[in-house]
Amino acid sequence: MDKSIDSIYQEALDELDGVSAPEALEAVQVRYLGRKGRLTAFLRNIASLPPEQRADTGKKANIAKKKLEEAIRQCGESLKSGKGNAGEQLDISLPGRPATPGSLHPITRITREICDIFARMGFSIAEGPEVELDYYNFEALNVPKYHPARDMQDTFYLSDNIVLRTQTSPMQIRVMEKQAPPVAVIAPGKVYRCDSDLTHTPMFHQVEGLMVDGDVSFADLKGILTTFIHAMFDAQTSLRFRPSFFPFTEPSAEVDILCVMCRGKGCRVCSHSGWLEILGSGMVHPNVFKSVGYDTTKYSGFAFGMGVERIAMLKYGIDDIRKFFNNDLRFLRQF
Ligand code: FA5
Ligand code: MG
Repeated sequence: MDKSIDSIYQEALDELDGVSAPEALEAVQVRYLGRKGRLTAFLRNIASLPPEQRADTGKKANIAKKKLEEAIRQCGESLKSGKGNAGEQLDISLPGRPATPGSLHPITRITREICDIFARMGFSIAEGPEVELDYYNFEALNVPKYHPARDMQDTFYLSDNIVLRTQTSPMQIRVMEKQAPPVAVIAPGKVYRCDSDLTHTPMFHQVEGLMVDGDVSFADLKGILTTFIHAMFDAQTSLRFRPSFFPFTEPSAEVDILCVMCRGKGCRVCSHSGWLEILGSGMVHPNVFKSVGYDTTKYSGFAFGMGVERIAMLKYGIDDIRKFFNNDLRFLRQF
């Protein structure tokens, strides 16, 4: 019983500690000292104790009651004077606790930077679905079912006709279906391939570009991409167009930039070649125009698709693509 008066008293003090409003204070008072309060009940119960315990326990309980009344009174005072509760004083001269704000993911930053550069050249921005019809991801892009070119990208199929898009190129079709030439658009977004190592992740980001008009030529493609690379890196970064193949462009080229790490001398990042591949591009294939009903005798155009992670790795000097997706705050805080 002795022990329990101590613990009742202690619990009351603990509750008082948390009190920050008069209503809460009154509740504590009622809970312990009210007619049915815990301390009141304890005192009432003393009469039923064995006679030899009554005096001692009664004395202790009365002391606890006095102390608690005093603590409640003090708590009331300090509430009134706006100081918070007794014993805890607010030092308004202390510096505040700094809030740690989040920051944009490096891939988001690079994507926005790419979009800004193209927006300044008059391109608009389009977005489309990541779960895509086979038709948009392949067929309308001149890749019929069972065509060997499908093996260029390891596709996640959701069903016979639905895939996780393996590239942002389906946006070419979606944009042209809705809009007549002239077209100047870029389409950023996530793409998926069953692929994973130092330079490949199963989900990554691309930015697609498409320009169509009366006489768009390969020279325009070179001009736009050179302007972009110089804005993204610097004017000393040279480009080279290397012949390549994509089913939806003809002719096609992959674009390499002079290695931003070694400036062409050869290093680990560029596998000692001096050059780094950053995108695929080419002149839009007539079959693609046919699938959206564009007149191939009137219009020509170019398209390109770049890997955002690849550009971010070059810009920030990162050697392992997986770092972007490990969610290691020590890595992410650097940006
Ligand atoms: C394409 O995806 C074509 N759609 C690009 C294109 C668009 C060509 C329009 C012509 C016209 P490719 O599979 O090469 O092409 O991928 C383009 C870029 O995406 C690559 O240069 C590379 O930077 C990046 N990339 C490809 N696979 C991965 C991956 N698993 N992880 C990270 N980046 C990747
Ligand atoms: Mg490639």
